[in-house]
Amino acid sequence: MNKNIVIIGMQWGDEGKGKIVDLLAKKFQYVIRYQGGDNAGHTIVVDNKKIILHLVPSGILNSNVKNVIANGVVINPSLLIKEIKTLKNLGFLVDKHLYISPFCSLILPCHVALDKARESLSKKNIGTTCKGIGPAYEDKIARRNLRIGDLINKKIFFKKLKYLIEYHNFQLVHYYKFNPINYKKTFDELIEARSILIKMIRDVALLLYKENRNGKSMIFEGAQGFLLDIEHGTYPYVTSSYTTVGGVFLGSGLGLSDNLNILGIFKAYSTRVGNGPFPTELFDDIGRYLRKKGQEYGSTTGRARRIGWLDIVLINRAIQINSFSFLALTKLDVLDELEEIKICIAYKKKDGQVFERIPFFIEEWNEIIPVYEILPGWKCNTSGITEYDKLPREAINYIRKIETLIKIPISIISTGPERSETIILSNILGIIK
Ligand code: GDP
Ligand code: IMO
Ligand code: MG
Repeated sequence: MNKNIVIIGMQWGDEGKGKIVDLLAKKFQYVIRYQGGDNAGHTIVVDNKKIILHLVPSGILNSNVKNVIANGVVINPSLLIKEIKTLKNLGFLVDKHLYISPFCSLILPCHVALDKARESLSKKNIGTTCKGIGPAYEDKIARRNLRIGDLINKKIFFKKLKYLIEYHNFQLVHYYKFNPINYKKTFDELIEARSILIKMIRDVALLLYKENRNGKSMIFEGAQGFLLDIEHGTYPYVTSSYTTVGGVFLGSGLGLSDNLNILGIFKAYSTRVGNGPFPTELFDDIGRYLRKKGQEYGSTTGRARRIGWLDIVLINRAIQINSFSFLALTKLDVLDELEEIKICIAYKKKDGQVFERIPFFIEEWNEIIPVYEILPGWKCNTSGITEYDKLPREAINYIRKIETLIKIPISIISTGPERSETIILSNILGIIK
């Protein structure tokens, strides 16, 4: 059995996926991104130096790991080139270690402009990253988008690009009163990116099929989080891709029968960037304190992340839908100074009725009153602790309480942003050894 792992964020993103992927990557041969785009911001901290990855998989810092951008990802070529250049300047071997599927849909300037136009004009906006993600996936589903592979034939590419940009310019100019996108300028910019990107094109589905059978081990790196999934998330306040485990198969071409271990990652509290329901959101000093201590500012947009207590109803929903084999709990250290810690164990309606399922509609979400269980804080430093037994009693109680409520043991506990600041429990060692 191959020891492949899928990494899935269990909340609204920013759970610390980048740190965990980077940490595990040295034991694996491939890291694969299979959905999302540069809306993702995965932070890796090595020797106090911070690197934020948006499109390039988080295996790139390990020199023996091959990194793959599979078909489910939407790519903004100019931004990918910029990211590749930055990584090369830092000494990482991107040219030799990055493969791209020709089937990845492109994010073009018209998609970015449409995203910005909608966000600025609509009253009920989603609070997107304005990276053009939604419009690019819309064009993919509408079967008119351009793909990385289209770059190979310049002539055909030019024709398709002109058509698509003119198609969107109509709406941009006449409906949103935005400036039109210049397709010739866009073409020139893409041709610059072309020479670097086409060298990286591979038949990713075939590559993964063969390498899987050769016994190579792989990490499938999810972007965003379960609650931002287009099918199962807090719709319409979601992203436009499949962030749940099903996205791995669609987004990479991996067969359903291929053996996968699924590692769910959640942080010891909750955060969300952008708009939409957030039952346990904090608007008080504790929320502000946690934002500062946890440095909860968007890795992609710099926006202040909204903060709240851990929500077990939502964590259990993530468990139902993603079949996790293992779990990682991150940012435990951020709770260090608190007198008491709340865990949301159920929801209540205005009439007092208690329930433990997620609501169907936004109107219901907005009326939820969280039911909390309150635990004592540990009020001492856990940052950098690497052994479970060295955690304070109250921190162990907090972890045990969570395990009781979700009925799955936690296998990895993160106590700081650095690779070394991690407790790895024995039950996962067989997989990551
Ligand atoms: P991702 O999108 O899931 O990869 O997460 P982000 O990188 O957007 O946000 C997670 C942030 O928390 C980053 O700044 C990480 O460096 C940091 N981080 C990860 N794990 C820990 C941890 O255990 N403790 C602390 N204090 N910070 C952490
Ligand atoms: P990582 O991979 C947190 C949010 C946006 C917005 C919604 C839709 O770092 O966890 P989009 O630009 O995707 O159309 O925006 O999704 N969002 C994220 N929030 N972390 C992310 O990625 C996110 N990617 C998108 O803030 O609410
Ligand atoms: Mg992030």
